[in-house]
Amino acid sequence: MAAAIDDPLATHALGLVKAGDVVGLGSGRAAGAFVRALGARVRDGLRIRGVPTSEETERLAREVGIDLVGLEADIELTVDGADEVDGRLDLIKGHGGALVRERIVAAASRRQIILVTADKLVETLGARGPLPVEVLPFAAPFCRRRLDDLGLKPTLRMLDERPFVTDNFNVIFDCATGPIVDPPRLEQAIRAIPGVIDTGLFLGTAAMVIVADGRVVRELVRRSR
Ligand code: A5P
Repeated sequence: MAAAIDDPLATHALGLVKAGDVVGLGSGRAAGAFVRALGARVRDGLRIRGVPTSEETERLAREVGIDLVGLEADIELTVDGADEVDGRLDLIKGHGGALVRERIVAAASRRQIILVTADKLVETLGARGPLPVEVLPFAAPFCRRRLDDLGLKPTLRMLDERPFVTDNFNVIFDCATGPIVDPPRLEQAIRAIPGVIDTGLFLGTAAMVIVADGRVVRELVRRSR
């Protein structure tokens, strides 16, 4: 018998997983807790396979005994974290730097399930922190100027005094957007810049957000637009 799982979000999300599912495995702390909890169930005999959204999650999933598969499989649900969630269940993701693969795995999934603590719920996206934008290194100086022209105050993400490099060998500009009045419009403007690979705006992707307020957990379900 695996050790008891003491993470209310991970425990709740486990209830959505069925035997035989292919499960998208998100990145970051909340998703990592879910991966560990899922691994405990696998060691107890649950048969599932996982699709990781980052190298770090891949390592963790292997460590906890989850069989991995690529995007050739149909993914039933992806369980991931987010940095901000608004009232429409639109998201900002990517503070952990895994946004591109998170986007792809979410798009390949029937449902994207997001795990957050209540402090990440915002009225307007951009209220809590920067918007990450992943760009091709070759295009970085040009993208910086264009992001600046949009008034987004881009800062190149650094790690140990060097530019942070994503799993896809790109770099990230963290943009100080402030509260984003029109997320779809901003998304379109940023994506129109040649060299931009992806942004942390995940609009209309989440089917459900599971929110923990201390030990109390509730589900927010997307209404169709
Ligand atoms: C990774 O790139 C992100 O999208 C994470 O999912 C997000 O930053 C949330 O991470 P935490 O659960 O660690 O806050």
